[in-house]
Amino acid sequence: KKERTLAMIKPDAVTKIGDIIQMVYDANLIITKAKMTKLSWKQAADFYSEHQSKSFFNNLMQFVTSGPVVAMEVMGDEAVSIWRKILGPTDSESARKDAPNSLRAQFGTDGTKNAAHGSDSLASAARELEFFFPSTTGHGPSNSA
Ligand code: CMP
Repeated sequence: KKERTLAMIKPDAVTKIGDIIQMVYDANLIITKAKMTKLSWKQAADFYSEHQSKSFFNNLMQFVTSGPVVAMEVMGDEAVSIWRKILGPTDSESARKDAPNSLRAQFGTDGTKNAAHGSDSLASAARELEFFFPSTTGHGPSNSA
């Protein structure tokens, strides 16, 4: 089934954007929207609101606001699960053990600095795509995709 998901390259892996884009296309997925932006603390807290009560929340906010991120709409058959598979385990060290070819194994550092994000469900994908690429009724380059 053709799906859309939100892929986000985190500040620690923005310089690896070339390799990461290659991994998307190698998996027969395509990139239909892309945006580089620096998240404010408030934006990051909104994006990751489901993790607000977690012990790692402040570390995550600190990290994800430390530099630019690249958000991409990734499309293709089973895009949500395929992109998560490309990412590998959340913790980069576990990824190096269990999925050495995964994105996080190659480009991540630890459990928080893990190179990239992927929506965990179709519902999350819809919410996260709307966060980075809001639909509007306006016209012009910023909304023409
Ligand atoms: P991500 O897939 O973007 O979803 C939530 C993020 O929180 C996750 O990647 C990590 O960056 C971070 N995270 C999740 N679990 C932990 C954890 N146990 N310890 C530290 N950071 C975590």
